[in-house]
Amino acid sequence: MFVAIEGIDGVGKSTVITALRKKLENDGYRVYTTAEPSQSPIGRLIRDWLLKPRTNVVHSSIYALLFTADRVQHYYGEIKPMLDKGYLVITERYMESTLAYQGAMGLPQEWLMELHRFVPKSDLTIILDAPVDTVVSRLSSRRELEVFEVDKEFLSRVREILLRRASMYNYPVINADRELRLVVDDVYRLIINALRRVA
Ligand code: TYD
Repeated sequence: MFVAIEGIDGVGKSTVITALRKKLENDGYRVYTTAEPSQSPIGRLIRDWLLKPRTNVVHSSIYALLFTADRVQHYYGEIKPMLDKGYLVITERYMESTLAYQGAMGLPQEWLMELHRFVPKSDLTIILDAPVDTVVSRLSSRRELEVFEVDKEFLSRVREILLRRASMYNYPVINADRELRLVVDDVYRLIINALRRVA
């Protein structure tokens, strides 16, 4: 099974995924965790260039093209091979990140969808959600901020699109403005239930 964990910057995706993996491994599941932007050359290009606050990207479509190019490589080069070996794959960010972030940049949803023609949707998409003020205060105490993290208005638009699409496609939304243990338990339960359904 292929699970994508989505949500705005600072909502706690990586911390939740680390805890989740331990829990699932204790149950005997073989779990492979990964993240986007990926470790591929395209993912590195994104980190080195696109996400630097002072970069001079000439058109917003470049973000969508590179993030989706990285995703196609990530899926066929890393995710699918691990699924084929029988792993439960959990990715931090997938398709919904492009629909929300590049959608919030003003790019049309239909075109963003079209860019995903050659990759499948994840079997389960879970949205971690918290208010923008909460995540921005968490982020600024951490490190130098990346390009999208500095702008509350932008992150609010991203959050809106994530929540809108969640209600359109019935993606579960987990309140991540709570103690970590509670968030992890909720996500864990969603995954276990989905695993039971496919078994
Ligand atoms: P992030 O998850 O913060 O990576 P890291 O923790 O390694 O810095 O992702 C980096 C930024 O890229 C984040 O602000 C979200 C943005 N992003 C998009 O705009 N579109 C996408 O498709 C993806 C995957 C990420």
